[in-house]
Amino acid sequence: MQIKLKHAREKSAKGSALITLVEKGSEHFVETGEGSELRICVGKFAKVTPRALRLIVRGLVQSAKKHKLSHITVALDPHAFPKCGQYGDAWFWSTVAENLLLADYEYTAYKSKTSKYALEEVTLLTESGKDAREGIARGIIVATYANHCRDLANTPGGDMTPRILGERAKALLKGSKTTVTVLDEKAITKLKMGGLIGVGQGAKDKPRFIVIEYRGGKKPDAPVVFIGKGITFDTGGLQIKPSMSMYEMHLDMSGGASVIAALGVIAKLGLKKNVIGLIPAAENAVGENAIRPGDVLSMMSGATVDVLNTDAEGRIVLADALQYARRYNPKLVVDVATLTGAALVAVGTHANVIMTKKRSLEDRFRELGEESGDYTFPLPLWDEYAQYTKGVHGDLANVPAGESRFGGSINGGMFLAHFAKGMPWVHIDMAPRMTSNSSDKLAKGAAGEPVRLLVKIAERF
Ligand code: BES
Ligand code: MN
Ligand code: ZN
Repeated sequence: MQIKLKHAREKSAKGSALITLVEKGSEHFVETGEGSELRICVGKFAKVTPRALRLIVRGLVQSAKKHKLSHITVALDPHAFPKCGQYGDAWFWSTVAENLLLADYEYTAYKSKTSKYALEEVTLLTESGKDAREGIARGIIVATYANHCRDLANTPGGDMTPRILGERAKALLKGSKTTVTVLDEKAITKLKMGGLIGVGQGAKDKPRFIVIEYRGGKKPDAPVVFIGKGITFDTGGLQIKPSMSMYEMHLDMSGGASVIAALGVIAKLGLKKNVIGLIPAAENAVGENAIRPGDVLSMMSGATVDVLNTDAEGRIVLADALQYARRYNPKLVVDVATLTGAALVAVGTHANVIMTKKRSLEDRFRELGEESGDYTFPLPLWDEYAQYTKGVHGDLANVPAGESRFGGSINGGMFLAHFAKGMPWVHIDMAPRMTSNSSDKLAKGAAGEPVRLLVKIAERF
């Protein structure tokens, strides 16, 4: 989809259907002598919040597709939506462009036939100048990479092993101002990443550790480090998942995909910041070489971990990445992971769960969630919860010993907090936002979150 900008005084081009947003009435499609016009009712403009705006823009794409319109023209005035003014005009236009492209996305890599119809061009009519141009340019970059993230995540597990994830990261970031290094099993062993090696040892394709470095800031500036869970398929290991719980577990590298994509955006935008992406990639497989419940792993940090549940693998590989992050002396570490089903129990499918020991970070992340569209909501990491990750024979346990039905997401967060000690750190459990829900107005499968949020974090910290 091409997004074009035209001054409001110009008319819509011939062959481009005019889409008008109206406050009242029902959706209305008319063919006039001049061309076609589609009216879409969005309710009172004065009530349109940033959250509503995103869905309106996506709905516009859905309506255009329903009517098989290949070229559309939309007149938009940011000042018609007073509740959307708080972040400025450039934000408005970035948000419009982002959501046009996110809504247009479909995962077609495995379709033998694709339809000839496509929404090829969206022309935006506006009176704003520089802000519109800059906002739209930014939004196109953000959404293009968020859609790349969805491509990576949606790829079936058989075609997305740790080795392939490394290759895809390199391919996606080729020609950008990033350096991508993919450490293989030998290098990971040398680093003493016993967690990553252990989780990946049951699979035929061995683990990789992907390091992406972007240095757009001054040399001595401390970087932001993003860590993304890169489990290319999660069977649960020997404690194998029940059949329907294994469905969609090829998406268990969504955190890693979002970090790769965010670094793509950051480099394209040329942010004057130093940003590092780390992706511990492994397949959590069943096999004779797989780790067993009760095995004790020696982590890169020197700590030992009782594997009391082979299905709580994400926290183990992330722990080694957190330890690796220390070498950068980061000003902020953010890990992104499809970590727990319990996060879905807690917040449903409408928010990324965040956990941090720093209240100010919690507040900022909530606000950046609203501004970016990747919404976040917090859970606690209080000392009271530390008892549940105490080890039996090792120093720590990856799940509570004995019966453990409660606070599953927090236990995951507390385990990670141990390895993040001393660093400013936020954990994002993105399991609730791994796939789109039925009210998102997005294609089924990966939602491309939280790429928009990671970009905002890089811009603001
Ligand atoms: N990748 C899963 C979590 C998950 C589940 C993400 C559903 C998205 C949708 C993770 O590795 C896992 O299996 N977690 C366990 C933890 C448990 C063993 C403590 C879970 O959530 O059941
Ligand atoms: Mn698991
Ligand atoms: Zn997992």
